[in-house]
Amino acid sequence: MQELEKLKVELKNINSEYSKIKDIAPEKRGEFGREINARKNEILAKIAEVEEALLDAEVEPLDITAPCAPNEKLPTFYDTLAGSEHPLMTELDRVINIYQSMGFDVMESRQLDDEYHMFDSLNFPKEHPARDGYDTFRTEEGLIPPAHTSTMQNRALKRFKHNLDEGKNIAVVIPGRVYRNEDVDATHEHTFYQCEGVYVSKDCTMGNMLGILREFFEKYYEQKLNIRTQPGYFPFTEPSLEFMIEKPKSLGGKKGDFLEMLGCGMIHPNVLKMAGINPEEYHGFAWGGGIDRLVMLRFGLKDVRNFESGNLNFLKEF
Ligand code: DAH
Repeated sequence: MQELEKLKVELKNINSEYSKIKDIAPEKRGEFGREINARKNEILAKIAEVEEALLDAEVEPLDITAPCAPNEKLPTFYDTLAGSEHPLMTELDRVINIYQSMGFDVMESRQLDDEYHMFDSLNFPKEHPARDGYDTFRTEEGLIPPAHTSTMQNRALKRFKHNLDEGKNIAVVIPGRVYRNEDVDATHEHTFYQCEGVYVSKDCTMGNMLGILREFFEKYYEQKLNIRTQPGYFPFTEPSLEFMIEKPKSLGGKKGDFLEMLGCGMIHPNVLKMAGINPEEYHGFAWGGGIDRLVMLRFGLKDVRNFESGNLNFLKEF
């Protein structure tokens, strides 16, 4: 460092030499000028050399073969910060536990799917505008990062069809990460989580479905809730409903403050048929809703973007 300071002083001195030119006889000025230019360039080259050496010394070589603690040299802030589970994962576990306690199987969704599972198997007519309503991303190969967990319905029905043959019901929930190509704001993310539910038996009804959903939400929010439904439209259910809960007082809600939590309905006969289940013999209901929204209400969170932000100040609160 000292060397660098010394060189910088030398450079300053040289620069002040230029002002002497006017006092020198005109025929000698050329030689004088060339001399200081040469000295100045020498000093500049030395400064560059020293600065580079200093920079090299600052960068710790990273041993990529080190078995552990490779980040030892990071600032203490990172040293002392223990990692923790992401709040969405903690809550997703709670969600799954509740459904499991109610007798549901669990299946995992996937992060890349296809046109058949996203649309055809869910009774979306070909070229139907409802396909655009899901704002799907597409890969260059034409694959689709799922825009909802309903992409798993056909697989879930096929996978558990044997239950019906054995005289049992199909009851399965499918959590998963979903993607939508839409504008992001405090209540909309391009990436979020959903949980799908699928139930099939000989004689199930919409009343059974509402009972299951009420029980789930009351267990999740640990209190009695007022629920409400309104008609909805999904090609894969008939009839279709939107399911709402009244925002509890304890979570800052006022009377009549209903929030839409999920879409649901009786599974369309075509969806059962496409999975090889006879709709004359069996009935089913299904639902799907966002996990992020569920968790935001529980903790009074205002901005969904925090979940995917990697913002440590936000994550440390959980
Ligand atoms: N997949 C729908 C969505 O993301 C929600 C939904 C509606 C799921 C009805 C269902 C259902 O299983 O039956 O908008």
